[in-house]
Amino acid sequence: MAHVLIIGASRGIGLETVKQALMAGHRVRAMARSADAIPLDHADLETRAGDALDAEAVRESLDGVDAVVQALGVAAGPDMILKPVRLFSDSTAILVPAMEAAGIRRLICLTGFGAGDSRDHGNILYLVAFNLFLRHAYNDKDVQEIIVRRSTLDWVIARPGILTNGPKTGDYRILGDPSEWRTGFISRADVADFLVRQIDSDEWLRKTPVLIS
Ligand SMILES: NC(=O)c1ccc[n+]([C@@H]2O[C@H](COP(=O)([O-])OP(=O)(O)OC[C@H]3O[C@@H](n4cnc5c(N)ncnc54)[C@H](OP(=O)(O)O)[C@@H]3O)[C@@H](O)[C@H]2O)c1
Repeated sequence: MAHVLIIGASRGIGLETVKQALMAGHRVRAMARSADAIPLDHADLETRAGDALDAEAVRESLDGVDAVVQALGVAAGPDMILKPVRLFSDSTAILVPAMEAAGIRRLICLTGFGAGDSRDHGNILYLVAFNLFLRHAYNDKDVQEIIVRRSTLDWVIARPGILTNGPKTGDYRILGDPSEWRTGFISRADVADFLVRQIDSDEWLRKTPVLIS
């Protein structure tokens, strides 16, 4: 069983990943600015209030861990639509060299369908919505993916489709071949299932699968 740092652990996919990693028997360090409010109590869970943009806090959070799940998100709202986003690239530019320096090899990274070379695989409605609402966030996720791909780490980049709050089904598609890439819905719980499975599987190393149900 691994000792896993989950960054962006207080809500959404990150929190689901904390729950499922604990259920799988891993030790979890759960980091987010509001980590103190994580509503879980477990002997193998350590919460760590900290900012992914604080290099010292990130270095300290890596102490003793075997793998990192990065599940950051920006708040939906006017800022995300109107202003450039830097969270994904800036935090990754801190995390990757810190992992390399610490000798921690495994990074399981979450971006989304539309990042990197999956951008042109959406239908016309998706591309319109994408350009209106998600452009800034995904321009930054593009840079995030480049930093991860250029690293010496053992990485996986998961690109889920449109997220729902549905239950974990375990019945979802992992589309590795670009010819299969398309958007669809998937629950945060199923995305978390995929992320947790990558902690001790090499199947998707250095790949960028799209996840849909
Ligand atoms: N919505 C969709 O349909 C969709 C589709 C594909 C991909 N995605 C992507 O999936 C990801 C997860 O989305 P989600 O809705 O499940 O999660 P979310 O609600 O956006 O949660 C984001 C997490 O990141 C943490 N965070 C944000 N800034 C941080 C910072 N500076 N330092 C440390 N932690 C920070 C938040 O905690 P604190 O605020 O406490 O720090 C929170 O735990 C996002 O990147 C999103 O773009 C979304």
